[in-house]
Amino acid sequence: MLLDDAVRAVPLVERERGPIVDVGSGGGTPGIPLAASFPAREVTLLEAERRKCAFLERWTAELPNLRVVWGRAEEQPLEQFGVAVAKALAHPPTAAEWCLPLVRVGGAAVLWVGPSAEVDSVAAVAVRLAGSVEAAADGLVVIRKTGPTPPGFPRRVGMARKRPLA
Ligand SMILES: C[S@@+](CC[C@H](N)C(=O)[O-])C[C@H]1O[C@@H](n2cnc3c(N)ncnc32)[C@H](O)[C@@H]1O
Repeated sequence: MLLDDAVRAVPLVERERGPIVDVGSGGGTPGIPLAASFPAREVTLLEAERRKCAFLERWTAELPNLRVVWGRAEEQPLEQFGVAVAKALAHPPTAAEWCLPLVRVGGAAVLWVGPSAEVDSVAAVAVRLAGSVEAAADGLVVIRKTGPTPPGFPRRVGMARKRPLA
């Protein structure tokens, strides 16, 4: 079931170029299934909790294209990835704010927003971060990064949750 949920994004990720980051990977979903689906692409599992990173590290022996980074999305170097994916990371507007700075101009963020898709609030956040909602279907939203990350982003740790942009 979890695997099915992750695999739903495969056609969307396939269309994008460049390395993939799974933001807030937790137990490894969707990053590990994506790494198995795209063996020629580097997949980074970015996770804020060290204990979870230790678990995720075990998978790197089986999947050579996988790497694990312990850290918070707001504290990473900007625009390193072609595509950022995030499932159950945070309230969707917050997830969008955390993911878009990680993506190169022309790349995309793919968010699992669930059935009660909050597409309007995600779209409002995307505009603030030089992004634009391109598609929303089946509980997934694709946000295109249309320009460089605007000055002032990412906001300092805690702000996206404390004062959501939308
Ligand atoms: C509810 S879990 C979801 C895990 C997995 N994506 C899934 O769908 O099962 C959210 C994860 O995001 C991590 N997380 C929360 N805020 C984060 C941030 N700012 N940067 C990186 N990871 C974060 C948490 O530590 C947690 O492991």
